[in-house]
Amino acid sequence: MDGNDGGLTALSPAVRKFLSQPKQVLINGKWQSAQSGKTFEVFNPANGEIIGHAAACEKDDVDLAVRAARKAFDEGPWRRMTASERGRIVWKIGDLILKYAEDLAQLESLDNGKPIAVARAADVLLAADLFHYMAGWATKIEGSTIPLSVPYTPGAEYHAYTRKEPIGVVGQIIPWNFPLLMAAWKLGPVLTTGCTVVLKLAEETPMSGLRLAEICQEAGVPDGVLNVLTGFGEPCGAPLAAHPLVDKIAFTGSTEVGKLIVKAASHDLKKLSLELGGKSPNIILDDADLDIAIPGAASAIFFNQGQCCAAGSRLFVQEKIYDKVMDGIAKAARGIKVGPGLDPSTQMGPLVSQIQFDRVSGFLKSGADDGAKALTGGKRIGDRGYFLEPTVLVDTTEKMSVYQDEIFGPVVTATPFKELDDDLIRRANDTVFGLASGIYSTNASKIHRLASRLRAGTVWVNCYNIFDAALPFGGYKQSGWGREMGQEVLKNYLETKSVCISL
Ligand code: NAI
Ligand code: MG
Repeated sequence: MDGNDGGLTALSPAVRKFLSQPKQVLINGKWQSAQSGKTFEVFNPANGEIIGHAAACEKDDVDLAVRAARKAFDEGPWRRMTASERGRIVWKIGDLILKYAEDLAQLESLDNGKPIAVARAADVLLAADLFHYMAGWATKIEGSTIPLSVPYTPGAEYHAYTRKEPIGVVGQIIPWNFPLLMAAWKLGPVLTTGCTVVLKLAEETPMSGLRLAEICQEAGVPDGVLNVLTGFGEPCGAPLAAHPLVDKIAFTGSTEVGKLIVKAASHDLKKLSLELGGKSPNIILDDADLDIAIPGAASAIFFNQGQCCAAGSRLFVQEKIYDKVMDGIAKAARGIKVGPGLDPSTQMGPLVSQIQFDRVSGFLKSGADDGAKALTGGKRIGDRGYFLEPTVLVDTTEKMSVYQDEIFGPVVTATPFKELDDDLIRRANDTVFGLASGIYSTNASKIHRLASRLRAGTVWVNCYNIFDAALPFGGYKQSGWGREMGQEVLKNYLETKSVCISL
């Protein structure tokens, strides 16, 4: 597509050149096509046009990539490098992301559909910051010395200590909602801890991850340490999850596929971390500052077209302020400028793909069939691209699929509640998920009381969707295993070795 049309951000010469070259995958430091020669089409979700082709990797490619990662872990220079040298490479990746920030933002907006302003301000900056944050940990991964008492060897003396060692070869599988940022969340800690990796990008959005792989090479990541594949879930993701030479799988995506990963990894008991779906409650108490709560609750669901695992998709509003809040959120929803991601004035872009558009439309239909009412929205916009109106559903009941299932689109259900009591807490927690939650209130004691009782990995108070490289993120219940980011994520990629010496 010619980015000069219709007031859209013109694609930079570097992005045009990147898109015009055949997209290959990175295995053992070499860019190559899939063994089968097969490719698949990559689409611009704003108009359904093809923007490129990516390599359709399968089992053979996975095997090559895993063997390269295994060799790089067992024999390569990576393990012999000092922590400081490794940290400097990780830091440099962050620097280069900033250097190429505009190109990455354009690529992300084109491929995923998200507003260019969001790609610039959130995805790219957070990705760079993640590498910069992680780089500092490389030199601070420490074990401890441990005093032993061993009661059955009286009089003996021991010197014991622990070492934190990289877990080995890691397979990583990521989704399409924040393609660059999800790659950063995964690669930052894996490189920092000294593991090697095979990363499979999402088939909907392979572009920015491939560009990031080039950036990692430029930053000095040795051959074989980072291998990046493109391909579909079953032919490419599944063999990675089952590969016997992989020590650990880190997955972000649907809870359904998370369960398949658990099965695939069970036959040789690979270590696993999972970042899965959500259906997060967002609670507005009647003492809330509504100038903060109303736009906050709207952006909690409509940010990134609602394609956020942490989206505030179940809104609970205290009775006294319910009508006013609903009015405000409906107005906010109607005021959102929906358009192509590359239009700088766009606030909400298209959904990522025809499949996701059909899936979210299916939820809207099931909600309507079940008796939910759209206070605003509920319809497609235009007939090209995958645009949906920001939608607020009311009159929902706890049994409805729109209330229980992750819709992953710009659709929120809203229900009133009487008091901050056990029933509200039961309702807020009444889902198989436990990823995030929100509270809007000005009463500190109510905030803390509620925050401690929400069964969720994150509680945002008077804000929503605030992410930081230093702040752990992950889920209770079926929202996942382990945490991303912060010091916590290092645990996903480290083994603890106890060394016990008789003196
Ligand atoms: P998905 O879970 O199928 O895809 C995520 C990643 O897993 C992709 O890279 C995909 O190729 C891979 N994958 C798919 N099947 C696999 C398998 N059998 N073995 C190994 N890897 C496999 O998610 P999808 O289909 O893109 O979206 C479906 C729903 O999942 C969404 O509507 C949303 O509800 C949820 N989702 C949640 C995300 C999150 O961040 N928690 C991200 C993306 C989707
Ligand atoms: Mg899928």
